[in-house]
Amino acid sequence: MEKFIIINRKIDSFNKKINVEGDKSLSIRWVIISSLSKKKSIAYNLLKSEDVLSAIKCIKTLGSKVKIFKNRCEITGHGFDFQNLKNKKKIILNAGNSGTLGRIILGLLINSKRKIKLIGDKSLSKRDFSRVTLPLKKFGAKFDNYKRLPIEMKGLENPSKINYLENKGSAQCKTTIMLAALKSKGTTKIKAKKSRDHTELIFKHLNIPIKIKKGKNFDHIRLNGINKIKPLNYRIPGDISSCAFFIVLTLLTKNSELLIKNININPSRTGVIKILKMMGAKIKFINQRTYKGEKISDIFVKSSNNLKGINCPTNYNSSAIDEFLVIFLVAAKSRGISYFKNLSELNQKESPRLIWASKILNLLGIKNILTKSSIKIYGNPNHSFNKKIIIKNFLKDHRVFMMSVVAALTFGGEWKIHDCNSIKTSFPKFLETLKKIKA
Ligand code: S3P
Repeated sequence: MEKFIIINRKIDSFNKKINVEGDKSLSIRWVIISSLSKKKSIAYNLLKSEDVLSAIKCIKTLGSKVKIFKNRCEITGHGFDFQNLKNKKKIILNAGNSGTLGRIILGLLINSKRKIKLIGDKSLSKRDFSRVTLPLKKFGAKFDNYKRLPIEMKGLENPSKINYLENKGSAQCKTTIMLAALKSKGTTKIKAKKSRDHTELIFKHLNIPIKIKKGKNFDHIRLNGINKIKPLNYRIPGDISSCAFFIVLTLLTKNSELLIKNININPSRTGVIKILKMMGAKIKFINQRTYKGEKISDIFVKSSNNLKGINCPTNYNSSAIDEFLVIFLVAAKSRGISYFKNLSELNQKESPRLIWASKILNLLGIKNILTKSSIKIYGNPNHSFNKKIIIKNFLKDHRVFMMSVVAALTFGGEWKIHDCNSIKTSFPKFLETLKKIKA
């Protein structure tokens, strides 16, 4: 793949139908949860991105057997304990760029009596791990350092239940504790601020003893420890987070229409659609269905020439967390001021995304006011732009790259965007899909 991409003209109107690759959250969860069953699990349409391949490498190191075919992946897991690790000398797991993998795999390791070292790339090594190591300590896990990778963890033979309050709205933290709870004696009680609920839905599908009471802002989860699970067969739907780049590309391109097939529209993931609709976007779900508890649909979007600013309700923050970068582009092209707040978590991602969003808007000449946790964007539907922009040193954050490409294609100017390879973490076919739209 080229090191950088040059874009020096806006995209022409289009009317197309596309697919995007499998959902990253579901793909990583499938790999991790399948590793717990000693029977064969099969997934179709698994995302074959670097984050998911890192997950596969990790569970192989832990003793799972994995076969990857063109259209499916099979895992025969190592099971609940780590018998296969007895003869291994030093065990090192590499989570690469993936916060989800790095954090949730620590939950899986709660009952490993062997010391296991977890490492990651430059971006992941800057990210906070205390959000998962501190609650795992309550189960009895020991860490050489609990803040940032590299971290060495030692679990224990019989962890027992904890009570845990998750108040960031982080599905990664919730999932880490749910995995540890599965291997612990007694009933773990979790009070969790609303966040994506894929793990809960998979656990229900597998008949794992889980009880969930849904509240307005928090869910209450009770989960009993067990010692084995069924295999998990899954057909993974398309990723709404990947879809979002093309939804925004369509919204901001005159006289265009796009149909995106077979997307996961779990309500805990569709904040982007709700926010864009509030801003005046024309987006429809077509042919909705349910699969193993997950909602799936085709998504139809049309360009909008009457977008308006939004004072974005903070209760959408968690369900749109990975989509804010492109939502900010829509705000920049909308009538009036938009205000997004309580978003300090955005600076905890693969790169400090709130800061990057502001930088890119500044380069585009869009007035914005940035604080540690908010951004105010002064939108202008008639904004015209013809300068040169270079985007680099963004810690290879895949979403900063893809946001920049969408900005280049919709705002104009002459862009040189570095680190094309970054898309491999979540959406390896991003540029290929874009070519299809342009063709
Ligand atoms: C994810 C949860 C989110 C999201 C990440 C994937 C998951 O992170 O940003 O890309 O699969 O659980 P947080 O849970 O830390 O908000």
